[in-house]
Amino acid sequence: MNTPSQISRPITGKTKVAGIMGWPVGHSKSPALHGFWLREHGIDGVYIPLPVEPINLKKALTALPVMGIVGVNLTVPHKEEALRYMDDITASARRIGAINTVQVQENGRLIADNTDVTGFMANLRQGAPKWNPASGPAVVLGAGGASRAVCVGLIDAGCPEIRLVNRTPERAKRLAKVIGGNIKGIPWDQRQAMLSEATLLVNTTTLGMEGQPALELDLSALPSVAVVNDIVYAPLETPLLANARARDLVAVDGLGMLLHQAVPAFTAWFGVVPQVTPALRDHIISLL
Ligand code: ATR
Repeated sequence: MNTPSQISRPITGKTKVAGIMGWPVGHSKSPALHGFWLREHGIDGVYIPLPVEPINLKKALTALPVMGIVGVNLTVPHKEEALRYMDDITASARRIGAINTVQVQENGRLIADNTDVTGFMANLRQGAPKWNPASGPAVVLGAGGASRAVCVGLIDAGCPEIRLVNRTPERAKRLAKVIGGNIKGIPWDQRQAMLSEATLLVNTTTLGMEGQPALELDLSALPSVAVVNDIVYAPLETPLLANARARDLVAVDGLGMLLHQAVPAFTAWFGVVPQVTPALRDHIISLL
């Protein structure tokens, strides 16, 4: 029997077109992800890669309503620059200073959001259903673009304190100032001591990613109720997550954030709320 990931449907004159703009874009899993849902729901739509050089970003975004495209995702290096060409930006995307989803309204206006926030939180809620954001301090490692979305999600969910540990301390301090809430910028060499009483540890650095050095951290100071989340998903099981599992801590991998961040975009463009299921996960894992 064919699975949703195998059945394709013909393109018609009414096919809705969405896609992902990036440079390069060939590595993106988003076409496979949205394509899975389009087939699963039998929607007359396509989701295509749009390789757009930075110099052409304004032209490409301005062309979306002209060509009847329903929306796009944005990936590296366009997430910040694209803000300049939007007609409306959600408050959380403004705080993050980056967007990943554009919806083209019928009147041609471009509405932008950053769905990494909901993606991050939905992944944690699915992977660690017993975790309560208000239960204690969170340690967030890294202060780059992904960290901003993580911090906004945690602060807005009621996290009482974020210990934001970063190699470059000024970057952590700047992030804390922009986002607000109780975020403390902590130097990298103090990361070990920060684990005490923390109920969540999130790695947003590139450490542990394929081809990068491992993250050196002894998890023994974490309480037994702590949840460990790595937003890295290649590899799926990072050394950090393996360490957490070895200590019987709840470990949540980063693939779910990628899957969940796509839900609001798909809903806005195609009018169906898609589900993040084991079948979808398996399909994307088979492509990693
Ligand atoms: P993204 O936008 O995906 O979050 P990024 O902005 O490049 O990516 O951020 C990468 C994060 O990994 C940063 O917090 C970076 O620390 P710096 O702000 O000091 O650059 C962190 N990082 C990368 N390599 C690291 C290393 N070897 N040790 C510690 N942190 C590292």
